[in-house]
Amino acid sequence: MAGEMVHYKELGLVNTREMFAKAMAGKYAIPAYNFSDMEQLQAILTACADTGSPVILQVSKGARSYAHETLLRHMVQGALQMIREKGSQIPVALHLDHGDSYELCVACIESGFSSVMIDGSHLPYEENVALTRKVVEFAHRFEVTVEGELGVLAGIEDEVSAEHSTYTNPEQVEDFVKKTGVDSLAISIGTSHGAYKFRLAPGEEVPPLRFDILEECERRIPGFPIVLHGASSVVQEYVEMINSFGGKMDNAVGIPEEQLRRAAASAVCKINIDSDGRLAFTAKIREHLAKNPQEFDPRKYLGEARSEFAKLVRHKNEAVLGSAGRV
Ligand code: 13P
Repeated sequence: MAGEMVHYKELGLVNTREMFAKAMAGKYAIPAYNFSDMEQLQAILTACADTGSPVILQVSKGARSYAHETLLRHMVQGALQMIREKGSQIPVALHLDHGDSYELCVACIESGFSSVMIDGSHLPYEENVALTRKVVEFAHRFEVTVEGELGVLAGIEDEVSAEHSTYTNPEQVEDFVKKTGVDSLAISIGTSHGAYKFRLAPGEEVPPLRFDILEECERRIPGFPIVLHGASSVVQEYVEMINSFGGKMDNAVGIPEEQLRRAAASAVCKINIDSDGRLAFTAKIREHLAKNPQEFDPRKYLGEARSEFAKLVRHKNEAVLGSAGRV
């Protein structure tokens, strides 16, 4: 990275340790919203401040290079200052989503991230353990928390893609947590990345999540924070809006909200949401441009997209994850 190391505490961020302990005790989940630009960041932070919800700002490798690492850090610092000036004291973590190498995790830690994920889930088990352990050893020197993953989610998200899912094997979780020293563990119980989570035949219902696997993991690592990736509901109102204003998203389906509520009340302490934010954003931009064909001021359509994203975040915090009012 260019320049000196910047520690996350200098930016006013926290790691995820205390957030997760409180979420576990209070039976709710911390929202982890992905973002890559200023409007999304504003929407997430203002909506979390308004609802009094702790939050994890989540950035993928692709989003980090899209925004630029230096600009990203200053944007987060500025957005935090913005909500603090309004009196909000919500805890905020900055987390690397799906880190794919030790070097990337180190670079993020050195540029102010308070939490990183090292995703070695596609590797043979022992290699996943060794890579995760190496990242944990570096991260913990700086009080940065680390998320590991066991089991593979299907779907596509930025650089991460897999055709089929492999459920987490509960027999491995205890050994993995002990050998790696990770602070949280992402598991695969039937969620998937992206807006096309299931190929359903006409009239077919979304298959339920494998709560039996989740419960078995909880039994083997009691009180340990579990993370759910691929947890967007793929809000149908937005899919319909996109399709009615020139888009084409066929068979886009996600995880029903009641399943996420059930997961949030369990040892699942972090729920990842990227696709729903993208859908809200895109739906509003499409609607605005279709209804106002003469418009060419980006503030008009991005402003509407930002408001819609904020509305979605408030809804998730209040009615799905239960994180509202927890600070
Ligand atoms: P969604 O695509 O379901 O929003 O999942 C996002 C995610 O898991 C980020 O890591």
